[in-house]
Amino acid sequence: MEWMRGWSSVFGEILFQRITASHLHNPLPLPPVNGLTCVVTGSTNGIGRQTARQLAEAGAHVVMAVRNTKAAQELIQQWQNEWSGKGLPLNVEAMELDLLSLDSVARFADAWNARLGPLHVLINNAGIFAMGEAQKFSEDGYEQHMQVNHLAPALLSVLLLPSLIRGSPSRIINVNSVMHSVGFVDPDDMNVVSGQGSTQDSSSSLRSDTYFIFSPQEGCRSSLFSATDPQIPEYWETLKTDDWPVCPFISQDCRPTNPSEEAHNTETAHRVWEKTLELVGLPVGAVEKLIEGENVQCRYGSQQE
Ligand SMILES: NC(=O)c1ccc[n+]([C@@H]2O[C@H](COP(=O)([O-])OP(=O)(O)OC[C@H]3O[C@@H](n4cnc5c(N)ncnc54)[C@H](OP(=O)(O)O)[C@@H]3O)[C@@H](O)[C@H]2O)c1
Repeated sequence: MEWMRGWSSVFGEILFQRITASHLHNPLPLPPVNGLTCVVTGSTNGIGRQTARQLAEAGAHVVMAVRNTKAAQELIQQWQNEWSGKGLPLNVEAMELDLLSLDSVARFADAWNARLGPLHVLINNAGIFAMGEAQKFSEDGYEQHMQVNHLAPALLSVLLLPSLIRGSPSRIINVNSVMHSVGFVDPDDMNVVSGQGSTQDSSSSLRSDTYFIFSPQEGCRSSLFSATDPQIPEYWETLKTDDWPVCPFISQDCRPTNPSEEAHNTETAHRVWEKTLELVGLPVGAVEKLIEGENVQCRYGSQQE
């Protein structure tokens, strides 16, 4: 039953996303973001590229965290040229980050934290979706989707906490997908080697450029909304309970939404988080220690706070 509900959410979103989001302007008008510093991962293409550009054009300091810095520099040049005469030059820079390497993640975080400045928004946008291909593993030994879409962003988010705390109230946006409604996670098989991942192969056929599917400019609205809407903290307060550390889930049409049943499973969530910390080389309680301003040793780098 749960399975059927999940797939009906997936098909519903694919077919009706333009209709359910018809109340939104495109591009999404943003509140003032001058003074905000935002890191956007995977901003050389697709949704991330639009997100970075629109934040920069709205006045934010944007850091493009990318594996191809040359492509990012070329984009920055192009954006500056096209923006010329409309206002102050855009405040955008590129820094190297390859999520397939946890060393690269730690190097990025070390370099950013060394500036001792605030970080207001981290958008974990970069993601891969290479279903139907042979399984591949990162240099760290982890299945590539698990590393790029989950482990590396988790490490990045934790290692950047000192800067995010300096930018408080700050936000971490994890760009997700309606596919989470049919997702599952096995904390004892984070490398997805048990073969269950083959359920997912058929989903590659869902990703195609059709009339129904958002353009990157439409797709980035939920990221921009999550990053900038002033009411998000209020919404978060309404969700907090002692045993439910839920984060706001914002739908593709920019509405606070209930995530899937599986996402409400706190026992699994705790097990996945503990396993995640272990795999990225962080001690249990790393987040709590960093929030308290304590040092945390990581296999892939060290915090200097
Ligand atoms: N498009 C959709 O229909 C859709 C729907 C729901 C959710 N999403 C989510 O939205 C996010 C963006 O998707 P998209 O469609 O815009 O993807 P995309 O066009 O394929 O762009 C992905 C970005 O991630 C970067 N990236 C990939 N591997 C990386 C790595 N190892 N290290 C650093 N950066 C890496 C890519 O860099 P390169 O330019 O160097 O390749 C690219 O800039 C993803 O998290 C995706 O799951 C997308």
